[in-house]
Amino acid sequence: MKKIVVGITGASGSIYAKRLIEVLVSKGIQTNIIATDKGKQVFNYELSLDLKKWVEELKNTYSNVKLEDNNNLFSGVASGSHGFDAVIIVPCSMGTLAEVSHGLSKNLLCRAADVALKEGRKLVIVPRETPFNAIHLENMYKLSRIGATIIPAMPGFYNHPQTIDDLVNFMVGKILNYLNIDNNLFNKWEDTEYET
Ligand SMILES: Cc1cc2nc3c(=O)[nH]c(=O)nc-3n(C[C@H](O)[C@H](O)[C@H](O)COP(=O)(O)O)c2cc1C
Repeated sequence: MKKIVVGITGASGSIYAKRLIEVLVSKGIQTNIIATDKGKQVFNYELSLDLKKWVEELKNTYSNVKLEDNNNLFSGVASGSHGFDAVIIVPCSMGTLAEVSHGLSKNLLCRAADVALKEGRKLVIVPRETPFNAIHLENMYKLSRIGATIIPAMPGFYNHPQTIDDLVNFMVGKILNYLNIDNNLFNKWEDTEYET
């Protein structure tokens, strides 16, 4: 993977996006971030961090990170001719899920997701809502059928997590595994002795 688009929407769980971006840029992968307006607000609210300032700080250490303008349909990632490998929408709101599943490409994030689908590239949706209604489920099913991968923000507990970081790393590790990006964010399951 050389270039990945990370979409941040207004669902809860901005911490997953922050961790994923930190790992991707530290591995030298070009990471283009697209946040919706609500995504920026929830990121700020949940993490007490301004997304734009945080990316500027990251840029002091890494040159391979870019914050895109969600209104800029002239960006490279709006086109199928532009070589990016995958789009990860994390966390994905039910609103953006609906837009992507209906092929609406009215902003850069939804357009990049649409490009990933039409070009047969990886599109990963990390939905966060509970409970799901039938519209949410139908939209996920629809995307899954046409090649997107749904990785719900549902950390497992079989690794005995002790901290929030452990839970976040589990989810981010799952996303990276799916992208075939080597990581040790959580212990992979091995043969385990258990008395039944
Ligand atoms: C603090 C906060 C948390 C939210 N959490 C969720 C959530 O987990 N899932 C969701 O679908 N919407 C959630 N929402 C609502 C979305 O932000 C809202 O539907 C918004 O229009 C989504 O826009 P976007 O898809 O353009 O980011 C939340 C809103 C706020 C203010």
